[in-house]
Amino acid sequence: MRFIVLFLLFQGLRVKVLGETGVTTKVEGYVGDTIILPAKVFKTWTLSRIDWSILSNYTWIATWHPGGINTERRPEYKGRLSLNISTGDLTMRDLRLRDAMTYNVDLLNTSNYNIVNRVQLVVKERLKKPTIQLYQNFTKSESGCVLVLNCSSPDTGINFSWEVEPSCHHCSNNSSSDTSELIAFFLTTPDTVNLTCIVKRELEKASSILVSKIKVPTFRRQQDCDYMFAWGFFTALLIVIGVILLFHFRGKITEMFQQFRGLGISPVTDSNVPAESVTSQK
Ligand SMILES: *[C@@H]1O[C@H](CO)[C@@H](O)[C@H](O)[C@H]1NC(C)=O
Ligand SMILES: *[C@@H]1O[C@H](CO)[C@@H](O)[C@H](O)[C@H]1NC(C)=O
Ligand SMILES: *[C@@H]1O[C@H](CO)[C@@H](O)[C@H](O)[C@H]1NC(C)=O
Ligand SMILES: *[C@@H]1O[C@H](CO)[C@@H](O)[C@H](O)[C@H]1NC(C)=O
Ligand SMILES: *[C@@H]1O[C@H](CO)[C@@H](O)[C@H](O)[C@H]1NC(C)=O
Ligand SMILES: *[C@@H]1O[C@H](CO)[C@@H](O)[C@H](O)[C@H]1NC(C)=O
Ligand SMILES: *[C@@H]1O[C@H](CO)[C@@H](O)[C@H](O)[C@H]1NC(C)=O
Ligand SMILES: *[C@@H]1O[C@H](CO)[C@@H](O)[C@H](O)[C@H]1NC(C)=O
Ligand SMILES: *[C@@H]1O[C@H](CO)[C@@H](O)[C@H](O)[C@H]1NC(C)=O
Repeated sequence: MRFIVLFLLFQGLRVKVLGETGVTTKVEGYVGDTIILPAKVFKTWTLSRIDWSILSNYTWIATWHPGGINTERRPEYKGRLSLNISTGDLTMRDLRLRDAMTYNVDLLNTSNYNIVNRVQLVVKERLKKPTIQLYQNFTKSESGCVLVLNCSSPDTGINFSWEVEPSCHHCSNNSSSDTSELIAFFLTTPDTVNLTCIVKRELEKASSILVSKIKVPTFRRQQDCDYMFAWGFFTALLIVIGVILLFHFRGKITEMFQQFRGLGISPVTDSNVPAESVTSQK
């Protein structure tokens, strides 16, 4: 009985001492991360006791007493805590949203001086990658195409932005709190377009990329080339055949030509020109 009264007295005294606190540090972490809650022990101090506690009734979660270290005092922190007895710092693994609260560290040095520091832990959720959807594309011709996309995010309080590579001739976006629509127009249809949707919240950033391969115009160009190659080959073949025929029948052609010449030119030579010259010589 006397022991219990002493214990309660001791606890009461301790609570009084806890009223005069030391420094408060703010620590921020993301869900799933490992963070360190700093005890901020005076560099000159040699510690004899460390008590990390939570809530207004100072429920112990991790302690170091002459008996040893105990970091398994509460089921909600099971297997997630480790205590550095030289610095007093508490390491917390696999951070959870409900870990966000104020932690007290009661430090006692070997001269029986005590101080209580506080750590205010803030737990944040990482931004999720947004979802990009290409829901309309018009490939007008080899020159010019339009892509229409939207990007959505399950997170709140975010801002959207887009990056288009190669840059579009004209881009417009219309964003609401959870969706953004992008209309991208290209004067010359690129083979590939990299479309990146970025969501931002304060200093946090997450993005998704959609690589759109525009095959149609390239394919058509190739077809055109094949067509032109066929026509070129056919024309060349015709010319070659023509030349061979000409060479083969060159004798007959000359003959024909001479016959033709004989028929048309001989009357002129016989009567007009030589006659004149003959008369002038006489
Ligand atoms: C304990 O703390 C007091 C007050 O800060 C200091 O004067 C004393 O040197 C400390 N003793 C040890 C052993 O750290
Ligand atoms: C401390 O307070 C919490 C609620 O504020 C309670 O659930 C818990 O049982 C209390 N712990 C002790 C040791 O009294
Ligand atoms: C405790 O912290 C000190 C200083 O940061 C470090 O050198 C030491 O390795 C730590 N001890 C453990 C058990 O992590
Ligand atoms: C994209 O926009 C269309 C039409 O507004 C809508 O039906 C669709 O659900 C949106 N997709 C995403 C991923 O937001
Ligand atoms: C999105 O729209 C805003 C304003 O409407 C504009 O300032 C921004 O440059 C646009 N971004 C893109 C990638 O078109
Ligand atoms: C698109 O992104 C890929 C890698 O994600 C890169 O290799 C490629 O060069 C990019 N294309 C353009 C046009 O930026
Ligand atoms: C943006 O989207 C809203 C809702 O879909 C629509 O009412 C508004 O006209 C759009 N604004 C532009 C500039 O496209
Ligand atoms: C979103 O952008 C607007 C205007 O640029 C800015 O006022 C606001 O703070 C931004 N919000 C976030 C969550 O970044
Ligand atoms: C355009 O849409 C058609 C049908 O919806 C699809 O087959 C084609 O792959 C899309 N083109 C691009 C560049 O995504």
